[in-house]
This record gives sequence, structure tokens and C-alpha cells, in this order.
Amino acid sequence: MTPADLEDEAARPKLPPDPGLSPQQRAHGRRLAQIHDMYRGELDAVAALLAELRVDGTGGDRLATAVEGMQLTRNLALFGTVCGRDCALLQHHHDIEERWMFPAIAEHASDAVQAVLDRLIAEHRVIHDLIECLRQTATKLARNPDSLSFSECAADFERLDRAIRSHFGYEETQLETPLGRHAIPI
Ligand SMILES: [Fe+2]
Ligand SMILES: [Fe+2]
Repeated sequence: MTPADLEDEAARPKLPPDPGLSPQQRAHGRRLAQIHDMYRGELDAVAALLAELRVDGTGGDRLATAVEGMQLTRNLALFGTVCGRDCALLQHHHDIEERWMFPAIAEHASDAVQAVLDRLIAEHRVIHDLIECLRQTATKLARNPDSLSFSECAADFERLDRAIRSHFGYEETQLETPLGRHAIPI
């Protein structure tokens, strides 16, 4: 699966709606989306820093002073550091899902639910590769904050950001019912 395949909505298995879910069960199932909101907030903050750096980095039509240059270098390194931190956070989230949440769902899974779990695990593999790419370029940028390293790290961040948001949306929508129905710990 490629990052483009990951976003192919038509290829993603879907579960039928379950109108029999109680409000409490539905609320429980929605907790995964709330956890994803926390990660989306993290990604929003990094994207905002990236947007600021792009404005500062182009510098308009004047030369940056030495002090501004040093500040920019520090901010580039900071971008590398926060990207590295997000890699660790996102990897941890997927590790928890694969070690605890997916196996608990699989205990009750119909063929349709299992097809969703298989697809989610395949998406995790793609995202894992994107995390590894960003981890490497983020480490390089934090150590050597120049414009080339920044461009590489920014491109890797944007690829991961796009893929993980697409994955979150699919995962939280499809797992709401099985998580809620079987009160799976989230
Ligand atoms: Fe996931
Ligand atoms: Fe998730």
C-alpha cells in the first residue's frame, strides 16, 4: 500500500450502521475520536509553526539581521525537535492500538469487522514508514538546522500529517460501533 492507496476511500471496508447502539455505548465508542482530537491538536500546532517558519524563512525583500538569523536557526531546530516528538507520540498511539485495542475488538469480530481491522493494520504499516522518514529528517534538522534539512523535514511532516488525518477519520468512524458495543477499554 502506498500513501495514495491509503487515502483511497472507496477501497476501505465499511461497517453497516448499528441503530441498536445505546447512547452510552455510542459515547464510549466516540472516545477514540476524542483521543485522535488530542493528536490532531498536536499536528495543528506543528503545522502552525511550519507556516510561521515559511514566512520568516522567505524573509520578504530585506536581509535578515544576524540576530534574526540566529533566531531562525533556533526555530528551525525547534521544528525538528517537535516533529521528532510527534513521531514518538504517534508511534506510541499505534502501538497501543495494535497491542491492546485491536486484539480486544478481534475477540468479538465478525468478518466485516475483521476486514476493517486488517485494513487499519495495513494503513499503520504505511504510516510507520512515514514516521520513520520524518524521524530521520527531523533528527537531521535538529542537529543541522539549515534550509535544505528544513525543506526535507517539512515535506515529510506534510506527508505524515495528511496520511494520519485520513487514517484517524476512517478508524474512529468504523470502530465507534465495535468499541461501544463491547465496551472495549480505550
Ligand atoms: Fe490507528
Ligand atoms: Fe488511532
